[in-house]
Formats: sequence, structure tokens, C-alpha cells
Amino acid sequence: MFCGRRRGYLIPLAYRYIDYLFLGDYVDRGQHSLETITLLLALKIEYPNNVHLIRGNHEAADINALFGFRIECIERMGEKEGIWAWQRINSLFNWLPLAALIEKKIICMHGGIGRSINHVEQIEALQRPITMEAGSVVLMDLLWSDPTENDSVEGLRPNARGPGLVTFGPDRVMEFCKNNDLQLIVRAHECVMDGFERFAQGHLITLFSATNYCGTANNAGAILVLGRDLVVVPKLIHPIPPAITSPESSPERHLEDTWMQV
Ligand SMILES: *[C@@H]1O[C@H](CO)[C@@H](O)[C@H](O)[C@H]1NC(C)=O
Repeated sequence: MFCGRRRGYLIPLAYRYIDYLFLGDYVDRGQHSLETITLLLALKIEYPNNVHLIRGNHEAADINALFGFRIECIERMGEKEGIWAWQRINSLFNWLPLAALIEKKIICMHGGIGRSINHVEQIEALQRPITMEAGSVVLMDLLWSDPTENDSVEGLRPNARGPGLVTFGPDRVMEFCKNNDLQLIVRAHECVMDGFERFAQGHLITLFSATNYCGTANNAGAILVLGRDLVVVPKLIHPIPPAITSPESSPERHLEDTWMQV
């Protein structure tokens, strides 16, 4: 397990009972960043071997100073305490692992493989704590890159998110999986309407768990459940739960939806 390991950002997840892996962006995504990160950290402390948090591009002070988390800390806790908490949590973010490898077959990161990542060892070699400013192009690619628009756009393209960022084609995904003997890349970073979306003939999945992103996107969220045989089953979280009185919603269905939204 990664606990106590100073080198290497990969978390080898041995399948024991149930492990929960979160793919980043715990702050800046709504009104309750403080509750979200506090709950996740509490879960990590209580279940250190079963809860895994990898870093998203918003787990960086220069980004979450601009997208809501800093202001939320100040508004909720006051100027002095708020800034203190914001700085402490951002110091912790610099220690978060940057990827997770499941049974040596599925690799998970927030953004993707970008232009620079060809071997899993490149991720493992990164030393933490690490700030984005001090980080290499490998760190930038891991946390900020996206797949291209669709499977017919190959190679590397500029990323509309900003200068120096790239999108990577299905050819890059296939090559990466082949070179590293992997089945699948799972990444987040982009809101997708159904909560999950396949790319590169299913060798990359984008996963986005927040429903109705920014209160306007009306997207479904999803989680992926991995079985013992590493079969991937998406579970959808609907933006608006069906009314209890609706004829289609059996009590069973309602229970399931309730659970899914926890
Ligand atoms: C894929 O994306 C390109 C670039 O935006 C576009 O021209 C093309 O029509 C798209 N192809 C499909 C099948 O959606």
C-alpha cells in the first residue's frame, strides 16, 4: 500500500473486500468543498487501506484560489482561520498520489496520459510532495490532459483548456495500454452527459460522478464498480431522482437510487 511510502505515486490496490477510489476534484465543484474534503479525509483516516484519494487539477492552490475553495474557506471560517485551513489543506494536496494501478491492469488518473507519459514507471518516479509549479510536463499531463474529441481524431492536439495543454488520440491510448500490459485507463476531468463515456474502443473511460454539474449541465453522474474479474460495471446516478409516487418507481428502485446518491 502507498501509506508510508515516500517514493512513487502509484497505489497498488489489492482486491480484498471493497476499495473506494476517488479520482480528484474534491474542491471547487459546488457550495460544499469543505464538507466534501473533510468527509473524504475522515474516511481515509478511518479506513486507510480501503479509501484512496488521487489528485485532481483542482487540488492545487493556484487553481482553487480562483474557482471557489479559497473564498468558501474565508466566508465560512473568517479571514484568518479560513486562510489557515485553505493553506493546510493545500499542503496536504501536494502529497496526494497521482495515479492508481488496479491489479496491474487498470490505471486511473485524473486527466490522462497527455503527450509525455509512455510508461507507468514515469508516474511512479515522481517525488512528493509536489506543487504544480515545480512539476514536470508529466504532472501537467496527468492532471490536465483530455482525450481528443472522438476516436477518429488521432495523435496529439492542442487542448482548448489552455496553452501548453494537449489532447491525446485513441492511438496514444492503445499504444500506452499495449506497452504497459494494461486493459484500461479510467480518468475523470470532463463532464460527460451519461456520467461515463468510452473512448479508444473502450480502452479509456471518462468517469464523472457529480450530477447536474454547476447546477446547469443536467448530466447524470456515474461510478464504476469493478468485479473480481476486473469486469467494469457503470452505475448511473440520476440528476433528479424519480418521484416516490411515480408509477414506475417501485420501492426497490427508490431504495437503489437513494443509495446511489449517498
Ligand atoms: C470527430 O471530431 C472531429 C473534430 O471535431 C469532427 O470533425 C468529426 O466529425 C467527428 N467525428 C465523429 C464521428 O463524430
